[in-house]
Amino acid sequence: MTVALDQPEALIIPRPGVSALLPSRIREIANAGMGRTDLAAFWFGESDRPTPAFIREAGMASLAAGETYYTQNLGRPALREALSRYVSGLHGVEVAPERIVVTGSGVSALMLVAQMLVSPGDRVVMITPIWPNIAEIPRILGGEVARVPLTISGGRWSLDLERLLAALTPETRLLVINSPSNPTGWTIDRGDQIAILAHCRRHGIWVMSDDVYERLVYTGTMGVAPSMLGLAGPEDRVISVNSFSKAWCMTGWRVGWIVAPEALMPDFTKVIEYNTSCVADFIQHGAIAALSPNRGEAAVADLLHELKASRRLLLEGLREFPEIECPEADGAMYAFFRIAGRSDDMPLARELIDTAGLGLAPGSAFGPEGEGWLRWCFAARPEKIVDGLGKLERFLRR
Ligand SMILES: Cc1ncc(COP(=O)(O)O)c(C=O)c1O
Repeated sequence: MTVALDQPEALIIPRPGVSALLPSRIREIANAGMGRTDLAAFWFGESDRPTPAFIREAGMASLAAGETYYTQNLGRPALREALSRYVSGLHGVEVAPERIVVTGSGVSALMLVAQMLVSPGDRVVMITPIWPNIAEIPRILGGEVARVPLTISGGRWSLDLERLLAALTPETRLLVINSPSNPTGWTIDRGDQIAILAHCRRHGIWVMSDDVYERLVYTGTMGVAPSMLGLAGPEDRVISVNSFSKAWCMTGWRVGWIVAPEALMPDFTKVIEYNTSCVADFIQHGAIAALSPNRGEAAVADLLHELKASRRLLLEGLREFPEIECPEADGAMYAFFRIAGRSDDMPLARELIDTAGLGLAPGSAFGPEGEGWLRWCFAARPEKIVDGLGKLERFLRR
């Protein structure tokens, strides 16, 4: 029996801060085209390769062994130790396991850090355009996001450092840097990092560095983008957020990590307990396998080799069209470009689905700075990219 409650319908609403969140426009476009078999879809930031077999096998072995129980809030010690070795080796600094938190994805890591640092009314500064989740998460907690747009200079995405430092007022609580960036691929350089860290130290501003794409860099020989972790001391107010999703093709596993000052660990333990309590054991076993120095690194190198080829194919293909502008960038796995005369990216993305069978993410999903742009994820087989370029050509030459 249902009981009629004496409650006006208008009261069935969440907190105003939640109603005010923007829905993801990437999802909006993908939902419009998903399931169509004639469509070449490049809208999500995900490789079309499955997770390497040795990682899947490690997860399966853990399940087969019956490892189906709760684990430690901050992650299994073996995974925190493996992450400590991995991060320390990658950035040439000692990062102790006690500074590492295992999280149920990169996006969950972003939320945990926001829950740790952002209070209502706090000023959070971001370099934009930026992946919508990074911008919306602090707003769930009442943070106020200030945006500093990248510029295009000499055909490359670049940061106006003076403008960023001016935005980092002494009242600022948190600076968020996503480098290599989703969607532009812009990658910060060491000089800018040094200036930013000095400024943030002076004013007591926290820095959260989203390093999810740090292994996906196409210039230089280091195999990793410069990270704040290589500069900051263990007591600096610097937090790095990372994920297994991109470099090991593990988007569906939902596992990531945080590096933070050790003094925060008791509080991280609490927020994790009250969010998810822990990450599933078999997932952590997969993550440990991903970090194995030989097979793990070989898998990352293999992916990067493929990405380099598909990036070249896509960028060269896009530049064949005189009406397309596609600035250069050093990292991530996207081409962010615009078509002269088409500043309406949402209708354009829909039209591309309907008339060309091509699925791209609309630039305005990444904020007002992205209006008129489109994002194409090139973590795809070369045949698929060639097919997509053919669809785009037919669309442009109609
Ligand atoms: C910049 C950035 N940060 C974090 C994430 C989160 O990755 P995941 O939640 O799959 O670990 C993504 C995913 O697209 C991303 O682009």
